[in-house]
Amino acid sequence: MKIVLTGAGGQLGQQWQQWAASQSEVTLWAYSSAQLDITKPDTFDEVLGRHDVPDVWVNCAAYTQVDDAETETARAMLVNGDAPGWIAQWCVEHACRLVHYSTDYVFSGSTEDQASYPEGYPEEAPTNPVNAYGQSKLAGEQAIQSTGILASSKSLLLRVAWLCSPHGRNFVTTMARLATQRPKVRVVDDQTGAPAFCDDVVTQTLALLLAQASGIIHLGSAGQGTWADVANAVFGQARTRGLAHPALTLHQIPTSDYPTPATRPHFSKLSTEKFTVFTGLYPPDWRDSLSRCLADPTLWSTIKS
Ligand SMILES: NC(=O)c1ccc[n+]([C@@H]2O[C@H](COP(=O)([O-])OP(=O)(O)OC[C@H]3O[C@@H](n4cnc5c(N)ncnc54)[C@H](OP(=O)(O)O)[C@@H]3O)[C@@H](O)[C@H]2O)c1
Repeated sequence: MKIVLTGAGGQLGQQWQQWAASQSEVTLWAYSSAQLDITKPDTFDEVLGRHDVPDVWVNCAAYTQVDDAETETARAMLVNGDAPGWIAQWCVEHACRLVHYSTDYVFSGSTEDQASYPEGYPEEAPTNPVNAYGQSKLAGEQAIQSTGILASSKSLLLRVAWLCSPHGRNFVTTMARLATQRPKVRVVDDQTGAPAFCDDVVTQTLALLLAQASGIIHLGSAGQGTWADVANAVFGQARTRGLAHPALTLHQIPTSDYPTPATRPHFSKLSTEKFTVFTGLYPPDWRDSLSRCLADPTLWSTIKS
């Protein structure tokens, strides 16, 4: 399989490269933003023309600073809203499959939605983003759909929530660092979801490619918890490793006590039933995937350095 990867420097992009390094049957051309800027569609042919046409374009590139998107709205819309459509169009013209990642932030995450979908949002639930980042990602979904690629080729628009990994900037690495530095860490305990781990997301994406699936599909972990639950597990591991601040305590707070420029959805759980129908696989519980993530020595060596 020949794969083009954009957003190579991000946490999910790095995970794809880690996977490809152990695959003799896979050729992966990985591009950072400096090597291939997805907002410059007139450069796609020139850059990608230096090698064979890929079978799949995996787009991990995105504008992911949720709070900054409230003020850098035009930039977020260009990267997340317009560029995915241009990538999809290139894929249509080159008979290449597309894998694109979106987010639970396309939904409102309201308590009403939580009551309607207690096991998690299904793919067909009405979208209604509550912040600029979510609006830009929804625009990207619509731009991809308008090319017709999801209907005409085995292409995937995959939504994930609370993406974490042992590397990169995410909630787990942030909590691990704070656990070593601070006696008191405040974490919200009224946002519910399930962290998706990058290694699981790559494995699940590959299973869908293998199953010749196409369309909008939710990936991630089983179970539900709050950010405070996730932080609690990270702090436990920091203590076990003797790395925690001696007076480390977790203070659970409501979202209202942690104001941010962008409104956060209260409910972020995505149902993965459709993924299971396509693949016959059941996602792991988030606690098991988090334990594996916390057992990764690279997480703790990065914190210490
Ligand atoms: N992180 C989450 O919690 C989360 C949750 C749900 C969904 N997602 C989605 O999952 C996907 C992967 O997220 P992630 O956490 O791996 O993101 P990430 O770590 O922030 O990486 C994003 C990457 O995109 C690159 N990029 C930004 N603008 C670009 C451009 N114009 N051209 C090419 N590359 C560009 C960035 O490169 P530079 O650093 O060089 O700019 C960066 O390497 C994204 O679609 C994201 O929206 C993430």
